[in-house]
Amino acid sequence: MSDTAQSEQSGASTTVFVLNGPNLNLLGLREPQIYGYETLDDIAGMLEDRARELGLDVDLRQSNHEGHLIDWLHEAQADGIKAVLLNAGAYTHTSVAIHDAIKSIKVPVIEVHLSNPHTREAFRHKSFVGMAAKGSVAGFGANSYIIALEAAARL
Ligand code: DQA
Repeated sequence: MSDTAQSEQSGASTTVFVLNGPNLNLLGLREPQIYGYETLDDIAGMLEDRARELGLDVDLRQSNHEGHLIDWLHEAQADGIKAVLLNAGAYTHTSVAIHDAIKSIKVPVIEVHLSNPHTREAFRHKSFVGMAAKGSVAGFGANSYIIALEAAARL
């Protein structure tokens, strides 16, 4: 049976939230040597194409505000969303509140980064998101999102 037919038959949610934190609205312009030349819209397009093949729907959002990310994590739980891909940007390394929100919900959260924070400045080595997430994908540029979506499809 195809991936699409399988997920439609199970009755489970096929929606994956893709939540993006601060400064990710500037992708494409922002330090492209680190984060690449793809914009967030380009990534949304790539994800939609792959999601269609996997029988999933993606709902991609971005905010520069910590509380929005927390509200959307709660919404994922309330709506019974299949999974969340979360690139919390710099909040990854600072936000106990986002850590607690991930721990507060049953929806699996996959941490995503374009760069590999472990190969960068020491202040990026600690991840409050990673400590609460189901798993992490980092260092593959825009493809980190695609790999994370493929992992979500298999959950
Ligand atoms: C990032 C890595 C973070 O350290 C940084 O603050 C970002 C982007 C990434 O996708 O590589 O904003 O999350």
